[in-house]
Amino acid sequence: MSTSAFGYIVLLGAPGAGKGTQAERLESDLGLPHIATGDLFRAALKQQTELGKLAQSYMDRGVLVPDDVTIAMVRERFTQPDAAKGAILDGFPRTVDQATALDAMLQERGAGVTLAPYIKVTTETLLSRLAGRWVCRRCGGVYHMLYNPPAREGVCDSCGGELYQRSDDTPATQLHRIEVYLSETAPLIEFYRDRGLLAEVDGEQNIDGVYRDLLERVRRATQRPS
Ligand code: AP5
Ligand code: MG
Ligand code: ZN
Repeated sequence: MSTSAFGYIVLLGAPGAGKGTQAERLESDLGLPHIATGDLFRAALKQQTELGKLAQSYMDRGVLVPDDVTIAMVRERFTQPDAAKGAILDGFPRTVDQATALDAMLQERGAGVTLAPYIKVTTETLLSRLAGRWVCRRCGGVYHMLYNPPAREGVCDSCGGELYQRSDDTPATQLHRIEVYLSETAPLIEFYRDRGLLAEVDGEQNIDGVYRDLLERVRRATQRPS
């Protein structure tokens, strides 16, 4: 199976780094689906499926959902036709075992990870981004009360849906998520660096600045020599 020119892009970064924000923009510019495991778990929870109820018990504590459950959910998502040629992966993989499973899944379709952009941000910035985040209940659009406010308070600009704060955005859970990230997910930076796929992006810039650098790295990595 042939992949799109951009293939499978793995967005790395701590909680609050801006993965979801940037993935939304890449999705529309590159024409690839944005697959975020956190969003898939939250959608399952909204529908009160067994998967959703199971995931909630982990998410509310700010710890990772077990690898087997997460990998099975991504494998299922990959069977949908929109993901056949590439995707923007946000929040997956999050452990070395998930990264190895992803490689195997992509290999089955004659593909691989094309690039792993790492949005690098200090802990102080992460906490201020998480503290001011509001999310649309209907379309998942991401806002920040200072850095990216909606035109009307509490209302989504794109769909008119109600904005809410995630239940795992309490100060204690935010800190714990960052700790879990450092111990379980940060090793993936070396994992992808070793494979020559890491692209570090300065995440301290504003949303447009980060996006400009990110897009440039994606274009450079996926351009075929002519
Ligand atoms: P998940 O939903 O993935 O949460 P996360 O990793 O904690 O990341 P966030 O969504 O909090 O941050 P983000 O980087 O997307 O930032 P955003 O763009 O929103 O996971 C939640 C839970 O699900 C996990 O804790 C775990 O339990 C479970 N889970 C998910 N995937 C899993 C997996 N693979 N394995 C096991 N368990 C899994 O931006 C944050 C804020 O900053 C926003 O307000 C935004 O407007 C603002 N902002 C963004 N960029 C900028 C900028 N450049 N300047 C100023 N403000 C900015
Ligand atoms: Mg996110
Ligand atoms: Zn919306």
